[in-house]
Amino acid sequence: MNILIVSAECAPFAKTGGLGDVVGALPSYLENSGNNVVIVIPLYLSINTKKYKIEPEISNLEVTLGNETFSCGVMKSYTKGRVPVYFIDYPGFFHRKGLYHDSFYNDYTDNPFRFAFLSKAALQLCRHINYKPDIIHANDWHTAVIPAFVKRLYRNDPFFENSASILTIHNVAYQGQYNRDWYSKTGLGWEDFTQDKFEHHGDVNFLKGGIHFADIVNTVSEGYAAETRIAPGGYGLEYFLNQKGNDYVGILNGVDYTEWNPETDKLIPSVYSINDLSGKAECKKFLQKQLGLQVDSDVALIGIVSRLVEQKGFHIIAECMSSLISSSNIQFAILGTGDNKLERFFSGLPQRFPGKAGVYIGYDNELAHVIEAGSDFFLMPSIYEPCGLNQIYSLKYGTLPIVRATGGLNDTIVNYDQKTGEGTGFKFNEPSCKAAYNTILWVLDTFYYRKLHINKLIQNAMSQHFSWDDSATKYLRMYGRALQKITTH
Ligand code: ADP
Ligand code: GLC
Repeated sequence: MNILIVSAECAPFAKTGGLGDVVGALPSYLENSGNNVVIVIPLYLSINTKKYKIEPEISNLEVTLGNETFSCGVMKSYTKGRVPVYFIDYPGFFHRKGLYHDSFYNDYTDNPFRFAFLSKAALQLCRHINYKPDIIHANDWHTAVIPAFVKRLYRNDPFFENSASILTIHNVAYQGQYNRDWYSKTGLGWEDFTQDKFEHHGDVNFLKGGIHFADIVNTVSEGYAAETRIAPGGYGLEYFLNQKGNDYVGILNGVDYTEWNPETDKLIPSVYSINDLSGKAECKKFLQKQLGLQVDSDVALIGIVSRLVEQKGFHIIAECMSSLISSSNIQFAILGTGDNKLERFFSGLPQRFPGKAGVYIGYDNELAHVIEAGSDFFLMPSIYEPCGLNQIYSLKYGTLPIVRATGGLNDTIVNYDQKTGEGTGFKFNEPSCKAAYNTILWVLDTFYYRKLHINKLIQNAMSQHFSWDDSATKYLRMYGRALQKITTH
């Protein structure tokens, strides 16, 4: 099968969260099972072309969007798994400091146009390099317009007549909803600006249009697929997701264990394994030193690595964090960036609680690995979580996840059973400060007074395996079903 994957992110080139991880990893597994995969992303200013050996490929690719025609460049490189990645090079749209927003976290106002352009350019590129995709796989709202482009703008084009389209929703809350004027610039007709397709409360909603036009839609865990079918989990799109029937499914993300594995991780000070955890103690010491925490192997250290946005639930934890830190024998290692208010709150903690809270505001992949390895626990109090990757990484690092039982967090973590010592982490249900607080007290109680159980939990956690092989097989089955749908139409 020829599989075209179009995305706003692909690790290691451009990543702000799990979307980058997924698009950086899944294609290799698809390719390994005998498919020809091509990835298309923008050439952002932040992408280091030298480091990743990104070379010019096409100097002039014409892309028509609505009434305008642009000429862009295309560069090329490969993922670690040798899957070709094409970078759409149009400085006017992509040579900016951030991927989606400026340094004040304000979205670029022309985002709908930038990503519609990427979407159209990806299809034009296929024609240019004579790569006929069997599957066109769009991701999130940014590229959700692609299925409609294929079905409408290329309706009479034999090049795409056998192409089926897939839309993966990594987060249903981000829908790409904008003033309807942006819709008219895509070149799509007003007959598709209806309540069941692109129109939503008078605006254009790109994710909604994608849900309608994609042959099959999936999201990144079964739990989240179920939650998004019911209000308020679908953020207003639950009806349209339900309309898809069996063509809306959940497929859990896998993990790239070549990147996230304490036995081989090159970014941590000391590697370790399930049979010998001495390296983990070294990592804890290193992390404590690096973030200005008191060096103490016996204290419970909780790690946080996150985008600081409402979804992740830290505004709730913030309410009780001060009393938790002041009243308990606990340390926090925090890495994150996002919401200004949360950034301010977290960055004030080290001064208020010297030696007990270590914080780095920003994006730092190396520190993310060190926190995974050096912490005893990993906190994810998400309000909702489509899949979540950090809790799965944490399992492999023997860093017990403390999670709210939602979406992919609920699907991947088994709650600690105090009677038997079974489980892989700690879960709470209510998205409230009280629930999180009480659960953390339970965690501390277990850490300080039930060491044998903690050791058992660590062993259980580290032997979990969420491989991409299994998930890629499910993606391939879904692709097959989508192809069948278009041939039987
Ligand atoms: P989401 O995609 O919603 O942000 P995931 O858990 O799926 O959540 O993936 C988050 C990914 O982004 C992980 O690989 C995590 O390590 C990384 N990440 C998030 N914030 C940071 C940060 N500030 N610095 C480094 N890596 C980060
Ligand atoms: C989104 C979700 C996250 C998921 C990631 C990759 O960013 O918030 O839960 O793991 O996409 O699918």
